[in-house]
Amino acid sequence: MRETLEKIKSEALLALSAPDAQIEELRIKYLGKKGELTAVLRGMGKLTPEERPVIGQLANDVRAEIEAKIEELSSAAKAKELENKLKSEKLDVTIPGEKTEIGHFHPLALVQRQLEDIFLGMGYSIVDGPEVELDYYNFQALNIPKDHPARDTQDTFYITENILLRSQTSPVQARVMEKTQPPIKIISPGRVYRSDAVDATHSPLFHQLEGLVIDKGITMGDLKGALEMFAKRMFGESTQIRFRPHHFPFTEPSAEVDVSCFLCGGKGCRFCKGEGWIEILGAGMVHPNVLRNCGIDPEVYSGFAFGLGVERIALLKYHIDDMRLLYENDVRFLNQF
Ligand code: DAH
Repeated sequence: MRETLEKIKSEALLALSAPDAQIEELRIKYLGKKGELTAVLRGMGKLTPEERPVIGQLANDVRAEIEAKIEELSSAAKAKELENKLKSEKLDVTIPGEKTEIGHFHPLALVQRQLEDIFLGMGYSIVDGPEVELDYYNFQALNIPKDHPARDTQDTFYITENILLRSQTSPVQARVMEKTQPPIKIISPGRVYRSDAVDATHSPLFHQLEGLVIDKGITMGDLKGALEMFAKRMFGESTQIRFRPHHFPFTEPSAEVDVSCFLCGGKGCRFCKGEGWIEILGAGMVHPNVLRNCGIDPEVYSGFAFGLGVERIALLKYHIDDMRLLYENDVRFLNQF
């Protein structure tokens, strides 16, 4: 039996030391329940009581030696595996990185922010108003009764007879005056709607910025000064402004305001269509009826208002010749800003 044990030991160690040794298979072959060593131990009953502990001890030694060899081999295999993994998963810091695109503001948002900055710098505060508006604020409070022809050019989308999508930012004037006594100095940018078909210069949704200043002794000179300062900040120090008589139901007198062409400086070019001037907004002195409608005494207070189209400013500033580009969200266009 001693010889059998020695033989198992030397065979097992030899088999395990082969370079392509299948460790798990060999473990089962020699140490498993149906393995060679177990088979020998089963035969121990036939030994004499004196032989039994000696052979038992030897069997244990053989098992321990084979187990130690297996343990040594499998931890070497694990180390080898780890080493291979570290080698193959090596981080190459010289590979060019993947660029993440960072978003930015839409040209309309850029212009709106610039407009806001200019007027904030002149002491105006920003007020928001609802886009779904009452007919009363959009029209009636602004001196445009139900049958007034000025409604034709501001046809909009009606939710009910008296609720509509606002066609201008001017209703915010009425809302502010109703709630606040002068002095008032606000701008109100936002979306407005009209039932216009889409083309290069029209859209059923666009943006305006309204301005309103009410106090004692406000004159048309204040309006001119405010708009001149705005025009210089927006289009450059050499910009001039010009008032042309016009009609708005909510201002009296009313004017359309032009800026000198910031490309040719007023000489006339393709950009200003030879005019030297470019129309940018409507303005005027707030009509006494509007003040009265909103609970402000026109005998005590006066004020001016103006309204400009944000798209129009964006098209001028960035030399864009089709308004639709602003809404189509083509990244080839938007990436340029
Ligand atoms: N709301 C006018 C429009 O949409 C623009 C405007 C003109 C606003 C004169 C004003 C103003 O406040 O005084 O055409």
